[in-house]
Amino acid sequence: MDLQCIPRNMAKERIAIYSESEITGIRAAAQAAARVLARTCAAVRPGMSTKDIDDLAGSFIKETGGKSASLGYHGYPGQICISVNDEVVHGIGSPQRIITDGDLVSLDVCVKYRGYVGDNARTIIAGGNATEAASRLLAVTRDALQAGIAAACSGNCVNDISTAVEQVATAAGYGVVRDLVGHGCGKNMHEAPEVPNYRQPGRTPALRPGMVICIEPMINAGTGRVLVDNRDHWTVRSADHSLSAHFEHQILITDTQAEILTCLKNA
Ligand code: MF3
Ligand code: CO
Repeated sequence: MDLQCIPRNMAKERIAIYSESEITGIRAAAQAAARVLARTCAAVRPGMSTKDIDDLAGSFIKETGGKSASLGYHGYPGQICISVNDEVVHGIGSPQRIITDGDLVSLDVCVKYRGYVGDNARTIIAGGNATEAASRLLAVTRDALQAGIAAACSGNCVNDISTAVEQVATAAGYGVVRDLVGHGCGKNMHEAPEVPNYRQPGRTPALRPGMVICIEPMINAGTGRVLVDNRDHWTVRSADHSLSAHFEHQILITDTQAEILTCLKNA
């Protein structure tokens, strides 16, 4: 399958080790992205269109002093990505798509701020009507991300993250999306290394202090198979139309445990 926004030649790129001053810049971009994601999540209500959500996120991005890193990326037309229910990622805000109570809404916010990029995502349930199935999918996907972060320590390799994420999802009986992966992220949205949510054969890059990566499990309640919308060429859906969840943090590899750059600090 050809997913246009996955940089498939990333594997050969060298992995950046960022300096203290660069990390200071990345921290600021990550905090901007975290602030926009938090504010946008808090504003989602049944009755809004996904275009309303995109507009709102655009105004929040503007307030940070940064710009959307998604807008214009390979021609992507939105400020952020908004993916509902069986939509996995890369959904485009539309005035026709109205959020209803109990919808799973995945928001992916990527902000360019003073030369650095912040990237994070979260799935929420709109309104007060969460089904047991939806709540469990969110909890497991969040746990899978946390397991991946816990494995992201210096001396481990990318596969330790991938394996940890996959184990949490498969133990719960869910399908791991394999056609999209996490990635390095500092000066550009997508940098080396690729960070899959499943164990890969062979050796994977070692994690070193100063690397900045995004871990982003995309987990389906059914199988992990996905399809790209053949009209907008962006929206990725679960092939079996089962519910899908997506959580993403941008983290810094350190000498000890990873620092979560997109954990919102009170500014
Ligand atoms: N922010 C997404 C990621 O987590 C990528 C979005 S690409 C876009 O990697 F073009 F759809 F915005
Ligand atoms: Co990402």
